[in-house]
Amino acid sequence: MLEITPLHSLFAAEVTGLDLDHVPTEETLSAVKAAFAQYTVLVFRDQDVTDDQQIAFSECFGSLESTKVGTPGAGSKMIVLSNIGPDGAIEPPTGRQVLNNKANQHWHADSSFKPVPAKASMLSARIIPLSGGNTEYISMRAVYAALPEEDKARLAGKVAIHDYAYGRSKIDPELVTAEERAAVPPVRQSMVLDHGIHGKSLYLGAHCARVEGMDDKEGRALIDRLMAFATNKRFVYSHVWRPHDLILWDNLSVLHRATPFASMEEPRRMVRTTIAGDGPTLAA
Ligand code: OGA
Ligand code: MN
Repeated sequence: MLEITPLHSLFAAEVTGLDLDHVPTEETLSAVKAAFAQYTVLVFRDQDVTDDQQIAFSECFGSLESTKVGTPGAGSKMIVLSNIGPDGAIEPPTGRQVLNNKANQHWHADSSFKPVPAKASMLSARIIPLSGGNTEYISMRAVYAALPEEDKARLAGKVAIHDYAYGRSKIDPELVTAEERAAVPPVRQSMVLDHGIHGKSLYLGAHCARVEGMDDKEGRALIDRLMAFATNKRFVYSHVWRPHDLILWDNLSVLHRATPFASMEEPRRMVRTTIAGDGPTLAA
């Protein structure tokens, strides 16, 4: 039987009693979707999924993004996050994969740099380290709800510029190739997203570079102040991975980040599928 148990006082829930060896029934799926709309992060326990099973389950929530140029898994529907090289050995810290993993340690929303940003992501734990390597989430709905009224008023209708190259070049200017830069030019995103009966959320993260209509310094100061507010630990759920956990999160309602582990000694291998958004965050 499907059971849903909250993992945090504000958001995130654990789902047990689902067996992805079989395609879920319509009834099960609608219960999962209702829980997802409410909790925004769902942890499915004991899902030893194959790539194909993960893709099939992800597709229950919408069509999938193809992995962009320059990322392991490019051209497919999977993104592989791992510190293991092609020869099976752990990569040295200069390795591109390791640098990308470092970039993931900044709070972000997947694909916020795309004209239609990702709706959700699904991540499965294939190999996890003995300690560390948690994935952490912020409820940006709870953050928005807790903002002072004057900030809510100031943010209404505000647009931010999200730029893949901006976030990545803070890690290492060499990390963004000319090909990637051309593939993902800066985009405009609403700073506040509306989730109907579930309230509103702030839409920020590592790709959020500037605020439209503000000079760089002023916009940066606003983004930094909002992020300082959002990262208060009362809004954060830190997920300690268990083998065969599968997590689905709503990129429009939460930010997430990876956390460090002994990446020189311990292997970690995660596989992500990304569910494409339904439309732009701004009205045309
Ligand atoms: C991701 C991501 C964090 C992690 O898959 O999009 O940011 O802990 N992962 O691996
Ligand atoms: Mn991510």
